[in-house]
Amino acid sequence: MRQSLVMGNWKMNGRRAGVQALAAGLKSALVGVSPVEIAVCPPYPFLLLAAADIGPGVALGGQNVSLYNDGAYTGEVSAEMLQDLGCRFAIVGHSERRALFGETDEIVAKKFARARAAGLVPVLCVGETLSERDAGRTEAVVGAQIAAVFAECGSGAFAQAVIAYEPVWAIGTGRAASPGEAQTVHAFIRATVAAQDRSAAEALRILYGGSVKAQNARELFAQNDIDGGLIGGASLDATEFAGICRAAAA
Ligand code: PGA
Repeated sequence: MRQSLVMGNWKMNGRRAGVQALAAGLKSALVGVSPVEIAVCPPYPFLLLAAADIGPGVALGGQNVSLYNDGAYTGEVSAEMLQDLGCRFAIVGHSERRALFGETDEIVAKKFARARAAGLVPVLCVGETLSERDAGRTEAVVGAQIAAVFAECGSGAFAQAVIAYEPVWAIGTGRAASPGEAQTVHAFIRATVAAQDRSAAEALRILYGGSVKAQNARELFAQNDIDGGLIGGASLDATEFAGICRAAAA
């Protein structure tokens, strides 16, 4: 039995006062919500501020990690730094990083390896664009994103890792994948990992992300291969996010 995981990706939002208010709001809204693992990924400058107000029951994650270890890489944040700040998770390969910052499957795979080496749990985001879906290429795209990580890290790559399936057309659009559409891809992802490492595949938590709200979460999380969610917009509202966490705990 895999423990559900719900992660909030705050993206590039917030100011100090708002971050503190959201963290404190989450702390009270999440009282008694179990058994489900919960994490939030604030912008880097607010990691410690959020941690101070959110309490020990919610884990922290980075939204990205550098391709490099510590050194002369101006503007970058290393996986070791995130680990030192108390992060448990690191998102790699979010579609916004892939689309806006030129991150290829190979770069994402190297970041995945950096996160792992620093003792973080990498959360690999995968997903197809609408034109790729319409062309029937969903499995080819997602399969290649996963294959790049196996090529970089070997067949044990996904032991203690997380994959988030986030169809690009569902992110921030209000148009979530249907539970059936998501389940089909999640089953494909698990089978793809199982082909290399059966026991990692069975334990692997595969999150769905893309327009998850409290109101559609329960049906999504009820699917066999959906083990929780990666939540963007709705994670900026404590009540809404707590509602999603409750759906995952049900
Ligand atoms: P959304 O974003 O929940 O706002 O659709 C999800 C994500 O980008 O992780």
